[in-house]
Amino acid sequence: MGDLDFQHQTVLLREAVELLRPGAGKVIIDGTLGGGGHTEALLAGGASVVGVDRDPVALAAATARVGGNPRFQPRQGNFADLSRVAADLLPVDGVLVDLGVSSPQLDVAERGFSFNKDGPLDMRMGPDGPTAAELIATTDEAELARILKEYGEEPFARPIARELKRALPTRTLEAAEVVKRAVPRKAWPTRIHVATRTFQALRMAVNAELESLDTLLAALPALLKVGGRAAVISFHSLEDRRVKDAFRALAGQCTCPPGLPVCVCKSVGDFQVLTKKAVAASEEEVEANPRSRSAHLRVVEKVR
Ligand SMILES: C[S@@+](CC[C@H](N)C(=O)[O-])C[C@H]1O[C@@H](n2cnc3c(N)ncnc32)[C@H](O)[C@@H]1O
Repeated sequence: MGDLDFQHQTVLLREAVELLRPGAGKVIIDGTLGGGGHTEALLAGGASVVGVDRDPVALAAATARVGGNPRFQPRQGNFADLSRVAADLLPVDGVLVDLGVSSPQLDVAERGFSFNKDGPLDMRMGPDGPTAAELIATTDEAELARILKEYGEEPFARPIARELKRALPTRTLEAAEVVKRAVPRKAWPTRIHVATRTFQALRMAVNAELESLDTLLAALPALLKVGGRAAVISFHSLEDRRVKDAFRALAGQCTCPPGLPVCVCKSVGDFQVLTKKAVAASEEEVEANPRSRSAHLRVVEKVR
């Protein structure tokens, strides 16, 4: 795949950019640069943008798209590590993460994310760490079942884990066949491929996706200036719950015992949640890009 073939349809573009309020003199970190869709709009809003991605292919593609702008800087790294990757710029005016994988990552067989295309069972977003095949080989059956159940909400986690350990697949289609064997035919889901949940769970484990998100959320107080905002777009209920809980904690939750008619603790945090309910994609966006159906955008501002 040439870099210029990198096509990812940006989700919640207008909503995220409006809430991040880019403007001249502001520095915003796009922690999931991908194809550079959000970054391009943030640059157009006048901000300087540091685009971080763990995937060198994404960095190259986004740089081809927006690299001509002197206010753009690409950096390879994990957004969990922004205090190091962007140490020279902190604190900043905004941080955005648009979680998960990009369409080109999913679509290129060699990346190993797809149960529809034959490729090595890799699934790494970046060049480091064990592949999905290595994860299966080195994780015991009980832990593998936990991963499938927790990250994939897979009802047949145990038989699939048993079959994966028996077969030790190294190719994507082989892994998909293993899942098909492990799940009784009449229990196959009708709306999604029977291997969807397993592949999602393996991907989340291979890339330590929830751990990276937790680390980022914990680092927000040190990353942002007063008046700075953080926006997170998530696609999985486990992620959205973490974001919601972390933002509430940053905003200082009421610690009054339940049942008191009015709050007396007057607990206050250094952040204010700007999205009482997560922002979802409009009907038009969902129609144009079905992937946006499960997107949730939440934003906080550091207020003191
Ligand atoms: C959904 S895409 C982002 C798309 C981008 N917002 C756009 O409009 O084109 C997610 C990107 O984040 C990257 N990514 C995911 N987790 C990451 C992490 N922990 N650190 C750095 N990059 C990550 C992936 O490699 C992928 O390129």
